[in-house]
Amino acid sequence: MSTIALDNVKTIKTLNNIAESGLNVFKENYIVDNESENPDAIVVRSFNMHSIEFNDQLKAIARAGAGVNNIPVEKCTEQGIVVFNTPGANANAVKELVLTTVMASSRNLFAGVEWAKTLEDQGDQIGKLVEAGKKQFVGKEIKGKTLGIIGLGAIGALVANDALHLGMDVIGFDPFISVDTAWNLSRNVQRAMTVEELYANCDYITVHVPYTKDTAGMFNESTFNTMKPGVHILNFSRGELVNEMDMEAALESGQVGKYITDFPNENVLKMKNVVPIPHLGASTNESEENCAIMAARQVKNFLETGNIKNS
Ligand code: MLT
Repeated sequence: MSTIALDNVKTIKTLNNIAESGLNVFKENYIVDNESENPDAIVVRSFNMHSIEFNDQLKAIARAGAGVNNIPVEKCTEQGIVVFNTPGANANAVKELVLTTVMASSRNLFAGVEWAKTLEDQGDQIGKLVEAGKKQFVGKEIKGKTLGIIGLGAIGALVANDALHLGMDVIGFDPFISVDTAWNLSRNVQRAMTVEELYANCDYITVHVPYTKDTAGMFNESTFNTMKPGVHILNFSRGELVNEMDMEAALESGQVGKYITDFPNENVLKMKNVVPIPHLGASTNESEENCAIMAARQVKNFLETGNIKNS
């Protein structure tokens, strides 16, 4: 039987479904209560905005994910509330989907599969039609093509190293790269000194930077115009990095060949040559568990020791 004094028991409020393995971190000395009005800490899963209710008891908010743009970080700082995220916990999941979609978009796989499904009622004509589809959806190999990676943090570094193994040339740009991350990067990754140098030389560009006032709208008419015509752009960071009106026009003109985005919305879904993905970048069982466990441990460690460890 538990002999914990009641004032040692802390309350954790979770917003959205946090993986069970994360909740297990709070097995002893904690109450996990989704409705609590006075939690000691909040763990958030979703990347959407939440109305966070502040109270005198609240000491920490953890986002089980990379981006914290849905948390009022400034207000938290003013009130002495620590904000955690889980850098790297979902990096492998995102990397796998980035490379999957680089390959799939080059082979026109998404459009080809959709088209093949329309042949359902064609009976013995299907064979002939498939021959036509084979020509219509002829693709490109990624081997020997150049992938540009903006942001060489946990995700960008994994993408870079694996893309090299697939035979791609890789150019990376990151003005803030840390020495630790640099060690994780293959020497074969060429480092662009400016983002313009990367834009000018890549067949595919993938972006892995947070959404801030400096990165908002970084993909726009003037940057598209400095890229190789027909470039494929992959956005697994945040929709706000792209000026959607300019992207629509660039897809129309062919300046951008494809826009692969993990952030579909009304505007995006109307675009030509868009590949809308329902925010699946980090959506694997493994990643859900990694993020939940890391977030829960950070909170537990902080509430018990006062130490802030964002890893
Ligand atoms: C993140 O912030 O980590 C990404 O948006 C992925 C996610 O949370 O699903």
